[in-house]
Amino acid sequence: MLEAEFHDGEVTWFQGGMLNVAFNCLDRHLPEKAEDTAIIWEADEPSESRHITYRELKWEAARLGNVLKNLGVRKGDRVIIYLPMIPELAYAMLACARIGAVHSVVFAGFSATSLRDRVLDCGATVVITANEGRRGGKAIPLKAIVDDAVTGIDSVKSVLVAKRTATEVPMHFGRDIWLEEAMLNERGTCPCEWMSAEDPLFILYTSGSTGKPKGLLHTQAGYLLYASLTHKIVFDYHPGDIYACVADVGWITGHSYIIYGPLCNGATTLMFESTPLYPNPGRYWDLVERHRVNSFYTSPTAIRSLAREGNEWVKKYDRSSLRILGTVGEPINPEAWKWYFDVVGEGKCPVVDTWWQTETGGIMVTPLPGVTALKPGSATLPFFGVSLSVTDENGNCMQGNGIAGHLCIERPWPGMARTIHGDHKRFREMYFVQYKGKYFTGDGCRRDEDGYYWITGRVDDVINVAGHRLGTAEIESSLAGNHLVAEAAVVGIPHEIKGTAIFAFIVPQKEAERMTREELMGALKEHVRHDISPIASPEQVLSVPALPKTRSGKIMRRILSKIAVGNYTELGNVTTLQDPAVVEQIIAEHKKLG
Ligand code: WTA
Repeated sequence: MLEAEFHDGEVTWFQGGMLNVAFNCLDRHLPEKAEDTAIIWEADEPSESRHITYRELKWEAARLGNVLKNLGVRKGDRVIIYLPMIPELAYAMLACARIGAVHSVVFAGFSATSLRDRVLDCGATVVITANEGRRGGKAIPLKAIVDDAVTGIDSVKSVLVAKRTATEVPMHFGRDIWLEEAMLNERGTCPCEWMSAEDPLFILYTSGSTGKPKGLLHTQAGYLLYASLTHKIVFDYHPGDIYACVADVGWITGHSYIIYGPLCNGATTLMFESTPLYPNPGRYWDLVERHRVNSFYTSPTAIRSLAREGNEWVKKYDRSSLRILGTVGEPINPEAWKWYFDVVGEGKCPVVDTWWQTETGGIMVTPLPGVTALKPGSATLPFFGVSLSVTDENGNCMQGNGIAGHLCIERPWPGMARTIHGDHKRFREMYFVQYKGKYFTGDGCRRDEDGYYWITGRVDDVINVAGHRLGTAEIESSLAGNHLVAEAAVVGIPHEIKGTAIFAFIVPQKEAERMTREELMGALKEHVRHDISPIASPEQVLSVPALPKTRSGKIMRRILSKIAVGNYTELGNVTTLQDPAVVEQIIAEHKKLG
């Protein structure tokens, strides 16, 4: 079943087995569940929602599968999906899975440049998008972004465009096709391509500590098994339950716990197009009331931003259907946990704080509802089969409880990513080299006296802003790419709502000298927003005369992290710096922020 050289990042599960993921998520349920709701789509406007049955979902996925085949997409070919949270997103993923194509969903908040990088990296032949997206009452010009992104990329032969709004968009003759029209001509049957257990299912890009985002590759059988098993157990899923994960499918949470896990379990899963604050801060609880939601899964940032709006927004709505509350994406502070438990769940619903990553494919550390005694702020204990270790900086495995160090995983698990698309060497070096024989998560943690795990956050050069992973290197290279900037270094600072925010130190070019601090900050925030995504835009930008560097030229972020929060006294050893006087100059500039 398992064959692995874990120390080398070589892992296979269920070799020799054949399956089709779309068959398991759709066709397999039809004899009993054809008329059951597979997806509840909750649109941006609360007045609009739709129920899609398993029969319809299979039909749509099959038609879209045929469209892709007509465009020449074959087993193993890559398809980029750049769609908002509309049902077509689910159709597209399942269509790819059905015909054996490898999808790569790109979060519809990413810029043209980010999208372009991903299209090029995976060599996609088809991009699926929409004319526009809708979010929080605003329109997002997705088709225009795609046009920008794919210009001049020869590998992209076709762009399929779903019609989310009535807005007209220019269509590129010979390349662009209206999705709906293409699907109308197709039949609702499409044979499943039988796949080997270890054939690729999807690529999902995520930020690492170095370089550009990397395309983590997940395969078929192990991923599906792990996503569905954890969904069933962690959310205690029973037939008839209404399950709602309000993440975006552009992230791994949406892949595993909106689409693949729940659909494999024959569940009713909700897709939410809007935001927690639209049209008002009662939106989540309004949808819980209207759809009689039993399990609800969101992020600590959303919880904190709602707690701030007051309890009335929660109390107004009937939440008696709720049984389990989940959270994911970043450490949850005990105050936010308690608010979720006491106010939203009225003390009756266990909170499952689930720790996992794009790389792990599914939940790794979590309480089991009704089984594990909870502690606010702790993800508690490993899921069964998961073996963790806490390692000190020298790579020694720390024994016993009441310890803190780096979180590692000791053994392969079925849901783990198998490689980085096109760069297996990087995969090995990122995760398996640092701590010999173990998978290194990049997170720090504490194991308390009871053996409970408390994730303390990233220990590498990744910043987790509002549950979104961003590499410092990515943001720095974006800033340095602006004509106003000579050099940049970014660090994370604590933020009341987002958990962590980005603080950027820049050495300006001469041209920036004529600008006020506000003008420069505005220009650079806008630059990153446009270059990567609004989520990567810095909270603060500070101009400094130079950055603190070691004699070998390495930026000492440790020092900048302290200065960024106004801690000027505990900077540690600064004697190894090329020019220790720089530190005083940076402090002087930071003090001016007030
Ligand atoms: C963080 C999201 C604390 C962690 C599923 C991890 C968490 C990164 C938790 C992965 C949690 C996720 N408690 N931290 N419950 N869940 N994280 O790949 O730093 O987007 O390494 O996957 O988010 O983020 P990713």
